[in-house]
Amino acid sequence: MSVLNPPPDALLARLEARLGPRGFTRDEDDMAPWLTDWRGRYHGRAAALVSPASAADVREVVTACAQAGVGIVPQGGNSSMVGGATPPAQGGVLLLSLRRMNAIRTVSAEDNVLVAEAGAILTHVHEAAAAAGRRFPLTLGAKGSATVGGLVSTNAGGTQVLRFGPMRSLVAGLEAVLPDGSLYEGLSALRKDNRGYDLKQLLIGAEGTLGIVTAASLRLFPAAASRSVAWCGVATPSAALALLRFLEDRTGPAVESFELVPRRALDLVLAYVPGTRPPLAAPASWNVLVEAVDAALEPPLVEAAEAGLLGDAALAVSEAQAEAFWRLRDSISEAERHSGPALKHDISVPVAAMPAFMESAAAAVEQRFPGTRVIAFGHLGDGNVHFTVGAPPEADGAVWLESEALAVSAFVYGEVGAAGGSISAEHGIGQMKREALAATVSPVRLAAQRAIKQALDPKGIMNPGKLLPG
Ligand code: MLT
Ligand code: ZN
Repeated sequence: MSVLNPPPDALLARLEARLGPRGFTRDEDDMAPWLTDWRGRYHGRAAALVSPASAADVREVVTACAQAGVGIVPQGGNSSMVGGATPPAQGGVLLLSLRRMNAIRTVSAEDNVLVAEAGAILTHVHEAAAAAGRRFPLTLGAKGSATVGGLVSTNAGGTQVLRFGPMRSLVAGLEAVLPDGSLYEGLSALRKDNRGYDLKQLLIGAEGTLGIVTAASLRLFPAAASRSVAWCGVATPSAALALLRFLEDRTGPAVESFELVPRRALDLVLAYVPGTRPPLAAPASWNVLVEAVDAALEPPLVEAAEAGLLGDAALAVSEAQAEAFWRLRDSISEAERHSGPALKHDISVPVAAMPAFMESAAAAVEQRFPGTRVIAFGHLGDGNVHFTVGAPPEADGAVWLESEALAVSAFVYGEVGAAGGSISAEHGIGQMKREALAATVSPVRLAAQRAIKQALDPKGIMNPGKLLPG
């Protein structure tokens, strides 16, 4: 393992001179908001916060750090779920924010490609695509803060993966500064390019450990003329999956989102998120939020109800109501944050196995750790749910987290492994799951991942302490 150096004074002075007051600070108050992850679980330190304004600036920082063996932690919207953008607790690194690099460089309706800099916020990408009569389909609850660089670097998923796939399917090209300071200029959005190893795909999901993404070419799609959004009550996760397949059968590829929400999650949202209202007259044990684009959901839902596939359902009659339904779904994470200490897991298993997994794994956890409460919600159609284990109500939350976290997560991951699944479906590894990665992937996979890291970043300066186990 390589040993990193704290940034020498001369290096800090050189970067301060290059980046100016907007691009360089060592002030504790200025840095404080960016040294803790948004859930408040990880707290780091940094010798300085640098905020480059261009890829050339990023090159300058990386080149200087490569020469001096100094670690760099790249950060976008600071919305990582796994502490992926929080510097290490011991500090001695530079925190590099991409937030100033937020331009939408170009939008081509002809090529169906938008080029955005790493610090562009997802909402702005949506707006720029819409202004050109196109859309960028990937979306998620944190769209108002998540940035392009972070979305690329975590291979983000969200709520439209069902039809469009995660970032890996939506990135057409990348510009990135590699760990030696060189610039990879790969923004050209060729539909076909078979010139060997795909560096772009290596950088997607690398969590900033192989280089710093500075811009991305993103694939656009025709704007939707209309959407149909419904909130449906179903009896079980298995009934939910049957409903999804039924709707797909009737509407072809029109179903773009299919999100599973258990009653426990909905209750938290209604309790903690102001202005939310129950979507159905009588609460259902399980709910699905379904969205179809350019197709009406009412006829297939009526048919599904007649076939006994769903209970009560509410079809949004206005954009405002559709937004209100989505707000219920997108606020689950936020509501969980207010509801007390809990351990979050982001897991996937084969789609067909997910309903049985959800019920058996939740029962097994609650039996093995008495008093805990499982809330599993999310992207059923992708075989991915967020599996949250809440602390027993009578326990001191902080003490419980400290003493039980490892055992609870190891137990959950054991269940996931037995079902042939993954311990990270869409949030990445960050600093939260490094040991779990080592414990759950094959030695062959881990060795190949280490070899790639060693080849591209032999000094280990890029996002130290993340992804690969130490
Ligand atoms: C979601 O699907 O809501 C996000 O991935 C966040 C979460 O896991 O809580
Ligand atoms: Zn999710």
